[in-house]
Amino acid sequence: MAPITTGFGFDSTAAEVIAGVDLSGRRAIVTGGSSGIGVETARALAGAGAEVTLAVRDTAAGERTAAAIAGGAVRVGRLDLVDQASVAAFVADWSGPLDLLVNNAGVMALPALEHTPEGWEVQFATNHLGHFALAVGLHDALAAADGARIVSLSSRGHLRSPVVFEDLQFDERPYDPWLAYGQSKTANALFAVQATRRWAGDGIYANAVHPGAIAGTNLSRYMDPAVLADCPPLVHPEDIASVGQPIPPAPGTVAPGTLAPAIPAAAAPAAASPAAVAQPGAAPVLTPERGQPH
Ligand SMILES: NC(=O)c1ccc[n+]([C@@H]2O[C@H](COP(=O)([O-])OP(=O)(O)OC[C@H]3O[C@@H](n4cnc5c(N)ncnc54)[C@H](OP(=O)(O)O)[C@@H]3O)[C@@H](O)[C@H]2O)c1
Repeated sequence: MAPITTGFGFDSTAAEVIAGVDLSGRRAIVTGGSSGIGVETARALAGAGAEVTLAVRDTAAGERTAAAIAGGAVRVGRLDLVDQASVAAFVADWSGPLDLLVNNAGVMALPALEHTPEGWEVQFATNHLGHFALAVGLHDALAAADGARIVSLSSRGHLRSPVVFEDLQFDERPYDPWLAYGQSKTANALFAVQATRRWAGDGIYANAVHPGAIAGTNLSRYMDPAVLADCPPLVHPEDIASVGQPIPPAPGTVAPGTLAPAIPAAAAPAAASPAAVAQPGAAPVLTPERGQPH
């Protein structure tokens, strides 16, 4: 069970990671592709020749991003992950094979417990449930590609919480913004495990990827700027020091790279990160029906 090693590290850029990779003829979706890591992921994929669709809830922002990625084939589709009807509409609009689904969109540490119109805690709904429905809806398109890859942006935050099936919605315990974020990010990792187990026969492989600590994105929008500097998941010195090092497996998991096969050429740049981690374990499939909507 050897960790994935790539030779890339803290100072590596997306352009350096993807150099020499030809994605001509490949089709990719990047959720949340109009800000932060999603923009750079889309830029790198388009620069390597892929046709990229930015799946965003703010299509005007998506169009501005697409226009800013000069020379690339970048499209925009509307997707609001907290709205299952929006996810279904995005899926219905998609046609043809899909080589790469980058489940990048996310929210972090909403200060108060909030629910979607369908009754789900917002971090779990955005970070996991919406992406779960999206991937399931796009399964046939992924299977139609010649070896498809799903990349889920996870986080070191997964160490803060397992998926608490007994209380997904914080009905029985006090709401904690970081436990909610951690739970959702653990779900991202477990989804990658189970998607690969179930869909490898269809040529679909999934990885969960911790991108490292990247300050300056919109992820910290809900945080008090005065405490941002002390925020463990973003800028804690321990996090920064650990970037580029293999992540120790969480309890019940195994080392990175033990489940997914070697990363194919179609993988996203982030999947080539030394922090890439797949976490096999007892991974029940997470469906909305398992929870207790308000
Ligand atoms: N930055 C880090 O240090 C770090 C560390 C570990 C993991 N990550 C993960 O990396 C991913 C990207 O984060 P980032 O740092 O690039 O943050 P970001 O700039 O805030 O990007 C997140 C994106 O998600 C989109 N989004 C939020 N809610 C959505 C919804 N309901 N439907 C559709 N899109 C939605 C946002 O769209 P709007 O612009 O419309 O709000 C935004 O484009 C996240 O999954 C995050 O958990 C980041």
